[in-house]
Formats: sequence, C-alpha cells, structure tokens
Amino acid sequence: MLEKIQLSVLYNISKALSMSPDIPKNIEYISNLLSSYLEYENVFINVVNPFTQELENFGGLDLSYRRGEGITGKVWKYGVPIVIPDVSKEEGFLNKLRRDLKNKKEKISFIAVPIKIGNKVIGVLAIDKIYSDKESLNIHTEFLTMVAGILGGYLKLYLDFETEKRRIEEEKKYLQTQLNTIMSKTGIEGIVAKSKKILEIVDIIKNVADTTATVLLTGESGVGKEVFAKAIHKLSSRADKPFIKINCAAIPEDLLESELFGYEKGAFTGAHTTKKGKFELANGGTIFLDEIGDMPLLLQSKLLRVLQEKEIERLGSSKTIKVDVRIIAATNKNLEKMVQEGTFREDLYYRLNVIPIYIPPLRERKEDIPMLIYYFVDKFSKLYRKKLTVSKELVDLLTDYEWPGNVRELQNTIERMVILSKSEKLDFKDLPADIRKKLNEKSKTREVYLKAQGEIQEIKLPKTVQQIEKEAIERALEESNYVIKKAAKLLGMTPRQVRYRMEKYNIPLKK
Ligand SMILES: Nc1ncnc2c1ncn2[C@@H]1O[C@H](COP(=O)(O)OP(=O)(O)OP(=O)(O)O)[C@@H](O)[C@H]1O
Ligand SMILES: [Mg+2]
Repeated sequence: MLEKIQLSVLYNISKALSMSPDIPKNIEYISNLLSSYLEYENVFINVVNPFTQELENFGGLDLSYRRGEGITGKVWKYGVPIVIPDVSKEEGFLNKLRRDLKNKKEKISFIAVPIKIGNKVIGVLAIDKIYSDKESLNIHTEFLTMVAGILGGYLKLYLDFETEKRRIEEEKKYLQTQLNTIMSKTGIEGIVAKSKKILEIVDIIKNVADTTATVLLTGESGVGKEVFAKAIHKLSSRADKPFIKINCAAIPEDLLESELFGYEKGAFTGAHTTKKGKFELANGGTIFLDEIGDMPLLLQSKLLRVLQEKEIERLGSSKTIKVDVRIIAATNKNLEKMVQEGTFREDLYYRLNVIPIYIPPLRERKEDIPMLIYYFVDKFSKLYRKKLTVSKELVDLLTDYEWPGNVRELQNTIERMVILSKSEKLDFKDLPADIRKKLNEKSKTREVYLKAQGEIQEIKLPKTVQQIEKEAIERALEESNYVIKKAAKLLGMTPRQVRYRMEKYNIPLKK
C-alpha cells in the first residue's frame, strides 16, 4: 500500500501541473519533489522525441536511448515496468551516468516505468535508490506508475504543441524557399513572376535600363506598369537621381504645362514665385509620364519638342534650359487606335514607342498567380504580424479566377484576407464573397465544390474537414434555394447523404 508521503507527493504533483503552464519548469519541480521526499538518488523523465524517434531526457541531462537500448529502452519497447533490485549485478544496465556503482557500500536499485497514452509509450520515468526490500520496491513501482499516468496526459499536450510548432515552422521554411526561388527568377526586388511572358520583359528591361531610350509601357490597369517603370530607373545608372512621376490624367489641363515646365514669377496671376517644373526637378534622373493617353493634344506637341530638343522653357520665360532626363511613359489606352482617330499625335507616338513593352493581363499568365499569392501572403503576414500560410485549394481557386483588376486586385484581395483571417491557414472560407460569387458564376460551381471536397481528403485534421464539409453544404443549399435534390447534385452526393449531414451539422432547412 502507498505510504502517506507518496500520496502527498501525488497530490502535490497534480496541483503543480494545474497551476503553471511552464512545462519544463513543472517537470523539474516534479523531479525535485520525487528525489527530496522519496529519497531517490536520481530521477529520469525521458520523452520520445517525435522527430528523431529517440528517447531523450527531459531534465537537461545529455541522455538518450534507442528503442530497446538498455533497461530504459526496453521499457519503451515493451511498455511494461522493469525493476532491477541490484544494478551492479545486472548486465543490461548501461549506467549512462557513469556512477561509481561497484564501490558503493549499499546496493542500488533501479525502477523504470512506461509513460503511456493508451497503448502508446511516449516516455519512460526511471529512478534509482538505495535498496530497501522487495516489497518496498513493489510499492515504489506502483507509485511511479501512478506518477507516470499523470505525466502521460501532461506530456502529450506538450508533444502535440511541439509538433504543431514544428509543422508551422516547416511550412514557413517551405514558403521561404519558394520565395527565394521567386526572387532569383526575376532578380528584381518587388517583382514576382514565373511566366515566360514576364521573364522576357524582365530581360528586356535589364538590357535597356542603362540606356536613355524611351520606354512605352502598355497594358490593362493593375498589371504592373509602374513597378516596371521604377525597376528600369533602379537598374540604371540614374538610380540615385530623382524618379519623378506625372499623372497626365490627374492634373487639370491648364496646370499640366506649368507642372511639367515650371514658371517664372509673374508669368500668370498667382505666380508669386518662380517654380521649377518636373522636367527640371528630374534632371539627371527619370520622368515617368503615367496615363500618357490622357495628355491633351496641345501639350503633346510641347512634350514632343522636349523629347526632340532635350530642352525646356519655363512659362513666362524665353530662356531655354537643357535637361537630361530619361522618359518612360505608360498607358492602358490603345495609342495606335488614338493615332488613327486623331486624338494622339502620330509623331509623338513614334517618339515614345522606341522600346514598346506590353504587359499582358494576369489571366493570360496564370503561372504567375501562385507565386504572387505566396509573395503577398508573406508580405502582409509580416506587415500585420500574423503567422499565416495558404491552403493549396485556395491557391487553385484564386488561379482559376479572372482577375479583371490584375495584380492590384490580387494584392488587395490577399491583404484583406490576411487582415480578416482568424485562423493560421487561409482557405476557401476566407475568400471574399464577391470573388466566390464570380467563381460560381463561371458555371464552375460543381468543380469548385468538388475541389472543396478534394480538400476534405487532403487535410487530416477532423475539425477542419467537418468545417469545410459543413460550409460546402450550406453554400450548396443556398445556391439551390434549399432544394435538397439540387444541392445534392451540386455536391455530387445523394439527397440522403446531404440530409444526413444536415442533421449531423445542425443545418436548418430554410424556406
Ligand atoms: N509582378 C509583380 N510582382 C509584384 N507586385 C506586382 C507585380 N505587378 C504588379 N504588382 C503590384 O500590383 C500593384 C499594381 O501595379 P502598378 O501600379 O504597377 O499597375 P499599373 O499597371 O500601373 O496600373 P494602372 O494602370 O491602374 O496605373 C502595385 O502595388 C504593384 O506593386
Ligand atoms: Mg499605374
């Protein structure tokens, strides 16, 4: 029978475990309790490391055992306690601590008991003590088995936590390697691409960056015209000189000229001081004429003159000023068509169109989408201090989407999802409703649901599976106006299967 002192130690152990969440400190406390109250010489709490599959000492001793190695390893292997009354007579005793056992006057006994979760041994609790008698050894074994029982549940929590931590770290590392490969692909900071189309553009940009050749960037809104313009500047020897952007569509027509060329004091009412124009400010650097298709015809001819003569005159002055600027222009309009219609000067068009670069819309280079997703998830996770990964299912869905607003829309979407996400992994449920709706409208409804179901097989965490299933069913019901037969068809299930799951997940049948 257990002695009073042993019961009291058991009580104190349970109390300590429920008080503090600091696992290593608690384990140390338990070791101390055992050795001081029960006069154990040494207490070993060993735990199976799930990653190395070795039994390792938890108390900071440099001890580890393979399965079946020594007495401790045998307890791990067979899952039963082993008691050695006199270790000096036991060949299997490894004495890893190198204690001087031979010269001891008293016999030393060793007891090792398994720490189990169900049938699985997750650790071994072992002690050594001065030999008393056989009956007392049995009582100590019984007592230690109880301690091991308490430790089991406790250490499992710890191991689960460590495994999860490790998994997240590995996923992060994986993301990082992916990011590194992305970066090395374009070699330009802030530009992520994998598609041949964009990599070719990157090549062109690298080649023309250090010339003064005018570049005309065209493409839909949000494809990256401005990032490429900046990249050209950064890659050129003008990098440490100004990069000045003029949005030709945003400045009122009568102000555009003074913005570009500056003015002298008194040039017009309100011109109280002399002001330099953007061309002068950009001297030695680059001027980025954004939305060039929106430049008024009259100004187009003035711009043409600057491009030809490389000199400007401030408003209200006849003095010419030499300027050395590199011109990059961008537009989402079709300039060629505008030339035909007479709204854009043909000569200016040819002046600008020295190096034409057309950036295709995202839907025509879907290979870039996964890379961009990883890049933005990483970027915004850091910005908003969240640890986030993204499910493969979501990457597939977003790759499927048409992205009318191109990279800008994708970027905004990811930022929003990162901000709103409450879990550690972005997936189906985090998709904004409008995108979800458009994806469904693509008459891919069935496919989307099937993909969602694919996820069910992929993920092994039961809670997530159920959540996904529940949401897929709810959506299908909504989609089919709560006609179970229709919903079942969408889901690729029988109506009976759907009804069963509605009951299981408590989904009401709305009218
Ligand atoms: N390849 C890319 N890698 C990373 N980010 C990108 C890439 N392309 C575009 N972006 C990002 O997408 C957003 C939109 O790009 P940008 O402003 O260059 O588009 P734009 O073509 O100038 O659009 P608009 O015609 O509407 O002005 C920016 O925040 C930019 O950083
Ligand atoms: Mg732009």
